[in-house]
Amino acid sequence: MKATEPRTLAPPGRRTAHVTAVERVGAYHVIRALDSGGPADPQPGQFYMLSSAEGWGGGADERPYLPRAFSYARVREGELSFLLEVVGPGTARLAELRPGEGLALVGPLGVGWRPPREGTRPLLVGGGIGAAPLVCLEEELGPEAAVLLGFRSAAHAEAAALFAGPPALATDDGSAGRQALVTDLLREELDIDPGATVFACGPPAMLEAVRAVCAEVGVPAQLALESGMACGFGACFGCVVATRDGYIRLCVDGPVLDAEQLA
Ligand code: FES
Repeated sequence: MKATEPRTLAPPGRRTAHVTAVERVGAYHVIRALDSGGPADPQPGQFYMLSSAEGWGGGADERPYLPRAFSYARVREGELSFLLEVVGPGTARLAELRPGEGLALVGPLGVGWRPPREGTRPLLVGGGIGAAPLVCLEEELGPEAAVLLGFRSAAHAEAAALFAGPPALATDDGSAGRQALVTDLLREELDIDPGATVFACGPPAMLEAVRAVCAEVGVPAQLALESGMACGFGACFGCVVATRDGYIRLCVDGPVLDAEQLA
C-alpha cells in the first residue's frame, strides 16, 4: 500500500475490458473482466466507471447513457472483479452481461485507502455492497486485518465468502451471524482494544455511525464515501461533499477520506 497517492492513476480514455464471468453471490452479482489495456496495480479503494461496451442508449433494449462508479473488489493478473447489486436499469443491464461481451471502463480513479496508523491493528467495517473495496484491502493488509460486516439478510451476507476471513457477521434480521448492526460489533471490538485504525465503507447512515463511534473512542478512521458520480474524473462537480477545508470533489480527492476531514 502506498503511503501517498497521486490524485488519480487513470489513463484518460475509456477502454474495453472483456467479461470473463458474471456469477451470482447470494443477493449480489460478481462481474469479472479482463482489463488487459489498463494498469495492473490499482490501489485498494480506487474505483472504475463501468458501462456495457455495446448497446448504450435510451430505449428499452438499450443501456443507460451514464456509466456507474464501482470500487473494484479484487484484481488478479489483470482480471478485475466488481460486486454488483441490481438496483435499477443501469445495474440490471450490467448484470446481464455475458462472458465474451465488452465492459467499457475508465479507471482506476480516485484516492484509495492509506496505511493504518503505525502501531494500530486494521479493523475493516463494511455494510452491504460497501464490503467490495474491503476485499482487496484485506488481501493487501494480510491476516492482521479483522473484518466486521453487516448485511440486510443471509442472502446478502453470502458476499462474506469473498473474504479470507472469516469475518464477524451481523444482519438486520438475524438470518446470518448476529442480529445487530455492524456498528455494534465495532463498538465491542473497540471496547476490547481501542488500538485500531478503522477502514469503513457502506451506506451514509452507517458511515456516520462509524465516524461518531471512532470520534468518541479517539480512533482514526478512513471512510469510503458514496456519491452520485457522472464523470468520475473531476469534470462535472456532481460528487461534491463538504469538508472542514471546504468543498471537495469526491471522485478526485476521495472516495476515501479521513473521518476527521468531514464537516
Ligand atoms: Fe464528476 Fe466527480 S463525478 S466531478
